[in-house]
Amino acid sequence: MNYVVLSEEKNEKEHVPIFKKEVFEGLSSNPKRLPSKFFYDDEGSRIFSDITNLEEYYPTKCEYNIFVNHKESIISQIPSNEKLNIIELGAGDGRKTKVLLDELIKSKREFEYIPIDISRYAIEGLLKDLSETFPKLKTYGVVGEYSSGLQWVRDKRPGKNVVLFLGSNLGNFSQEKAVVFLKEIRKSLNRNDFLFIGLDLKKEISVLLKAYNDSKGLTSQFNLNLLERINRELNADFNPEAFQHFGTYNPIKGTMESYLISLKNQKVSFKSDNRVFSFGAFEPIHTEYSWKYSAQESFDLSEQSQFGVVEHFTDSKKYFLNALWKAL
Ligand code: AVJ
Repeated sequence: MNYVVLSEEKNEKEHVPIFKKEVFEGLSSNPKRLPSKFFYDDEGSRIFSDITNLEEYYPTKCEYNIFVNHKESIISQIPSNEKLNIIELGAGDGRKTKVLLDELIKSKREFEYIPIDISRYAIEGLLKDLSETFPKLKTYGVVGEYSSGLQWVRDKRPGKNVVLFLGSNLGNFSQEKAVVFLKEIRKSLNRNDFLFIGLDLKKEISVLLKAYNDSKGLTSQFNLNLLERINRELNADFNPEAFQHFGTYNPIKGTMESYLISLKNQKVSFKSDNRVFSFGAFEPIHTEYSWKYSAQESFDLSEQSQFGVVEHFTDSKKYFLNALWKAL
């Protein structure tokens, strides 16, 4: 298995102080908040993967259908006179990416697939799975941060870079942080390289509310797992039953927002640190933004980060957008 390790996800001991610092900061704020990036421990990643299989959670299925229906035209936009580096940010399970890889193989393109992820475990799992599905596929994994990973690819793997950033993962960033992030990607690429980005579109609010308040209660479990993770790793005593998941749409920002609402007056202790936080009845903790975009906002984002829109691909219901951008 071919991969390079640039920097690895902090092991438990190194990770705890950062996690603890951000949790204490968030719970000391008014209103209280906890960063959504901490959802994804092993348990949280497993619950998210179950969410993507829910009928009500449309984004994954829509993006998959866009790939299946538009794979030829997506690939035809990318010049065929150069070897391609198909670089994926965040390894995932590769289900959607496989559709594009399969099409690239069938159209006899010269390319290498390069997933970048901070977790060595995720890279190993994905490369193993891909070698079983596509025995002849050339792959090279990068364990590291996105921008240093991209710079490594630019310096060490000649070819035209095509970066995949799928699943509306950008949506967790605020508007400003999204632009900072996209600019950083742009800086790590060459002129005329590509970014293929998945963005969740603005749509009828009832569809959004169902997707983030599913009938099986998985989104609630996903949100509450953050409290359980804090209990597990920071020796706190949150009672998850005394908090309720609340998912709502903010039409001014264009965001789905997740909260955990304290159902009573209560105190939560972090025994090892001698810290106690008080919660009033019905006091919220904000845990997630999930930004919804318009097609115009894809143009605006691309412009602000030195990319140009090549083409927009959407599903028949116009629920999801895959935008192909070119580095200017
Ligand atoms: C993984 C960030 C794309 O915002 O839809 C799913 C996470 N949160 N249900 C999203 C999530 C609640 C998801 N992203």
